[in-house]
Amino acid sequence: MSATLPIHSATADAIAQAGRLLAEGRLVAFPTETVYGLGGRADRDASVAAIYAAKGRPSFNPLIVHVPDLEAAREVVRPDNRARILADIFWPGPLTLVLPRREGSELSLLATAGLDTVAVRSPAHAVAQALLKAAGVPVAAPSANRSGKVSPTTAAHVAEGLGAEVAMVLDGGPCLVGVESTVLDLSGPQAAILRPGSVTREEIESIIGPVLTAEDSAAPKSPGMLASHYAPGLPVRLEAAQAGPGEALLGFGPAPGAILNLSPSGDLTEAAANLFAMLRALDRPDFSGIAVMPIPERGLGIAINDRLRRAAAPRTMP
Ligand code: TXA
Ligand code: MG
Repeated sequence: MSATLPIHSATADAIAQAGRLLAEGRLVAFPTETVYGLGGRADRDASVAAIYAAKGRPSFNPLIVHVPDLEAAREVVRPDNRARILADIFWPGPLTLVLPRREGSELSLLATAGLDTVAVRSPAHAVAQALLKAAGVPVAAPSANRSGKVSPTTAAHVAEGLGAEVAMVLDGGPCLVGVESTVLDLSGPQAAILRPGSVTREEIESIIGPVLTAEDSAAPKSPGMLASHYAPGLPVRLEAAQAGPGEALLGFGPAPGAILNLSPSGDLTEAAANLFAMLRALDRPDFSGIAVMPIPERGLGIAINDRLRRAAAPRTMP
């Protein structure tokens, strides 16, 4: 039996402490108006890997990056006119905007599952707002439940579900909305709702005009499907003992001849933290392919292998 996590009432002192913990790279569970989030620095691969480890997720999906306001969002994304108008009306609030990643942004590639787009949201809950301001860094935060369990709407739910990887649970009372934020893709010319939420299609359309949803056959992507889209341009070969001619070897554990190593000591959290950045670094025309050494199928290794298998699968290019 695991002990339940200590819960801290969200006083000004507790919020300040939680902000310091986040800035140091630790994980903090906090209330938003939708559900409780499990937050970690979105600009640190190790913090994002710790989120996945704490949730026990079998796959890497891109996470929502939480910011206090549009000004802070500009550090990580490039908002266009539609985004500025929607943020002006709905932020802070339960509307997440998927936007092009800002070049040179320090955001963890693990947070976006390797994508060039970033989902950003400014939560309306006063505790979340104060915490994000105290932390002073962008905060990646999926719902604060173990994978496969329902999203938590009270601090007690969070404390029951998660383990000692979480440094602090801030209690701000029950969440008012109870359903995750609406996710709106504005990364291309056609706006599309990727996940329905309490900000409705009609509300969005009244401001920016027609928006696609999963029911529209023309919708470019459907919710949940989208996560898998990053794959290197080079062929990827798995379970490799060594590099073939022209291949770059991506190591794990002791790996003579590896160009890069996900974790020389064989640590799966370190490997997850390095995964997308190293795949990108090796995806260069001077190699013929990327050969990846075996990763154990346990803990975070399950999510790493899931992603690697997708990267190695035959591509259907448009
Ligand atoms: O209400 C909420 O949004 C809660 C609270 C804690 O803020 N957060 C939340 O985060 O639900 P998460 O990480 O569980 O949800 C992420 C959703 C997924 O549906 C994911 O596919 C989508 O956002 N998403 C994230 N980044 C994306 C991207 N770059 N492109 C498309 N979809 C993205
Ligand atoms: Mg969730």
